[in-house]
Amino acid sequence: MAEAKVYRASTTAPVNIAVVKYWGKRDAKLNLPTNSSLSVTLSQADLRTLTTASCSSSYSATEDSLILNGSPSDITGARTQACFRALRSRRSALEAADASLPKLSAMPLRIVSENNFPTAAGLASSAAGFAALVRAVANLYELPDSPAELSLIARQGSGSACRSLFGGYVAWRMGDKEDGSDSLADLVAEASHWPEMRALILVASAAKKGVSSTSGMQQTVATSGLFKQRITEVVPKNMELMEKAVQAKDFASFAEVTMRDSNSFHATCADTYPPIFYMNDVSRAAVRAVEKINEAAGQTIAAYTFDAGPNCVVYYLEKDEAAVVGTFYKVLGSEVGGWKESAAAHATDISVEEPLA
Ligand code: ADP
Ligand code: DP6
Ligand code: CO
Repeated sequence: MAEAKVYRASTTAPVNIAVVKYWGKRDAKLNLPTNSSLSVTLSQADLRTLTTASCSSSYSATEDSLILNGSPSDITGARTQACFRALRSRRSALEAADASLPKLSAMPLRIVSENNFPTAAGLASSAAGFAALVRAVANLYELPDSPAELSLIARQGSGSACRSLFGGYVAWRMGDKEDGSDSLADLVAEASHWPEMRALILVASAAKKGVSSTSGMQQTVATSGLFKQRITEVVPKNMELMEKAVQAKDFASFAEVTMRDSNSFHATCADTYPPIFYMNDVSRAAVRAVEKINEAAGQTIAAYTFDAGPNCVVYYLEKDEAAVVGTFYKVLGSEVGGWKESAAAHATDISVEEPLA
């Protein structure tokens, strides 16, 4: 008997680094956030997830599987299951409407995924990872869904993943419906709207973080008083200022809101009980280096931001590359001694540097 056909689709997805951060769930089951957020999607030239999804009636195991960076990964978690369920149900609807379609929804799924950057280290691997997983399966199933519709599914895998289905400047609108059907990604501006934007990524540590984003934000919601002020006052204001800054291509404002929002987010982590510290001495040296660069320039030409990890992302404009990148490594090199020179990447490209130490 001929072997049953193997159906296969591959895709890559980029990371996105928030400039107004998502931190807090109002509904952990549906993965609905306590606040809206806004990010810049980085180019896939350097940091990306590559995911292949396949299915076949010949696959002996009846269960779905995921190989992540070469090792079997647990997919029994409710969030991954929710993604698979939503994708299968959309495929089933297509199959129900057209009997000539192969019944892919009934076959086990095999996902093979690889991140070409540190996983679970505060560089948005869950964002690129779940965006790639959802799109790979959607491609495999030939779903007609738009990026916004797929963002609803990716959000259930990891909140930040919904923003990685779009390039450019992307908002995740928190929504107010109980079923989460309006909590999805929304394009604020294409990358081409502000193509001079650059991001430099400094890997202070590639190690897996001690407290995952999921667990950290739940501890913050449960114990931090400062957090309440962040979601009711700080973030709504930052969202408004940030959208205006992006529309107007006002880098000084973009930078100030980015740095203030990162500081506010890490302050709520410190206010969590017991406190969570994602930033380390190298991160703090990076903050000082950015301050020195801006002081020397007499204006704000660089902005730091840190996700849930010690690694620093510096946003700047192409015209300031020499001042920012050159000075950054000079200053940080002498203070920390653990960084090597990097070329700044193009457009919303990024470049990753391993620490020397
Ligand atoms: P990060 O800061 O890297 O986003 P998180 O704590 O948010 O860290 O999430 C890390 C988790 O995301 C990993 O432990 C893994 O479960 C999941 N993840 C990362 N990359 C992928 C991928 N390519 N495919 C599926 N899941 C992934
Ligand atoms: C600090 O999206 O990783 O990077 O929804 O629990 O998977 P889960 O969390 P995740 O949290 C990201 C937190 C952040 C800020 C951001 O990306 O907006
Ligand atoms: Co994450």
